[in-house]
Amino acid sequence: MEKYILTLDQGTTSSRAILFNHQGEIVSLAQKEFTQIYPEPGWVEHDPMEIWSTQASVITEAVLQKGIDRQALAAIGITNQRETTVIWDRNTGQPIYNAIVWQDRRTSAICDQLKKEGKAAVIQEKTGLIIDAYFSGTKIQWILDHVAGARQRAENGELAFGTVDSWLIWNLTSGQLHITDVTNASRTMLYNIHTLNWDEELLELLQIPAALLPEVRSSSEVYGRTSGNLLGTQVPIAGIAGDQQSALFGHMCNQPGMVKNTYGTGCFMLMNIGNKPRISKNNLITTIAWKIGDQVQYALEGSIFIAGAVVQWLRDELKMIDTASEIETLATTVADSGGVYMVPAFAGLGAPHWNQDARGSIFGITRGTSKNHFCRAALESIAYQTMDVLTAMQNDAGLTINQLRVDGGATANNLLLQFQADILNTEVLRPHITEITAIGAAYLAGLAVGFWENIQAIEKQWQVNRNFTPTGNDMTQKIKGWQRAVKAVEAWTNL
Ligand code: G3P
Repeated sequence: MEKYILTLDQGTTSSRAILFNHQGEIVSLAQKEFTQIYPEPGWVEHDPMEIWSTQASVITEAVLQKGIDRQALAAIGITNQRETTVIWDRNTGQPIYNAIVWQDRRTSAICDQLKKEGKAAVIQEKTGLIIDAYFSGTKIQWILDHVAGARQRAENGELAFGTVDSWLIWNLTSGQLHITDVTNASRTMLYNIHTLNWDEELLELLQIPAALLPEVRSSSEVYGRTSGNLLGTQVPIAGIAGDQQSALFGHMCNQPGMVKNTYGTGCFMLMNIGNKPRISKNNLITTIAWKIGDQVQYALEGSIFIAGAVVQWLRDELKMIDTASEIETLATTVADSGGVYMVPAFAGLGAPHWNQDARGSIFGITRGTSKNHFCRAALESIAYQTMDVLTAMQNDAGLTINQLRVDGGATANNLLLQFQADILNTEVLRPHITEITAIGAAYLAGLAVGFWENIQAIEKQWQVNRNFTPTGNDMTQKIKGWQRAVKAVEAWTNL
């Protein structure tokens, strides 16, 4: 019987289940969106029960409804939206509050206070992270401080914290396993990426009882089996990685210096930096890329908050386009942006600027500016933001990156990728595999159960679909224009 690996890809807006065969091809795929909850400006929540129910339903759909024999499942790999924080009751399995999503800014003031107290250096040294509301630590703190009785119950060991991987595994195993992997742990601001332990000093600083925390495991091993409630069979759960690390692995960026960029709602760029953590001097974060056996790989990461979201904004709010793909058609009708620059700092600026208060602006509009120029400037803003992160990475790494591997919805846009190659003066490679994030977790799980023998056996599955090579045009003036625009946005923020 042909065997498959099932990946659960639990993202920010949808839960997905994807089945891969031995050649890395998609055999079956199911996807369900779920509710985004915005209780107050800057707050973003998910209902953990809905995360689980949508995930459970796409598993059933991708396997049973597609007529796949459940015995054909060799293993499950899990990849997930990172940092999103769930706390639940160990006895009832009921969450005590909604999941606080990575985008949620409610704990910015706690973060400002930590910075004021001079904790930035120790936190960065231990966790590789820059203090920010983005990470789980202050979200846990907030729940413990705002849900009646939560802190006491946490101290008594009655509650469990988890990122979404832990929450799914708890439910898949009917409460038998409370675990996470190193990649997800490294996003909590509580995990020491050098010693590979929950850090007591940081737990004390954020007042988080150790009894809440999951056991931290590698990214590729048989952790346990599903309880059988869902699929009627016990399938090994054998791979876990946060979605961006999973994409890095899916791109087979397994050598130091290899870089990938995923163009989703935001952009996440990660560079493999090998088996030693290096703390960034350019406002990037250091994170664990994966742990396989006892081998840990680290990565530098830069996150851009608004990338594909700028296209959605043109479509949904400004109504300049009807579909996301129309942006390429309109942007192609003009030779350039006509001097227009868009800085889509709708939710502040992420790496390498880290300015939470920045807001979006558009510069250089003339009477002749058309919506085609707007579309072009919007696409270019994605490429410029990527350039800023890549420049910081090159400076940190002390090397020139000559190849960028890309994935995500916006990479269907050839104009964007050609502009990206030109502005970076670097080759941009789009692979055949479109589900890079999901296949990364499949590889991690498949390696653990011997579905694939070793990394060499899967490396050749990564094939180029199209290579965007720089045209060699001089982009200096354009880059200067972008830098002026970002400076102006920051100046406006500080007025
Ligand atoms: O750090 C947040 C990231 O993991 C979210 O990814 O793809 O669900 O938007 P995505």
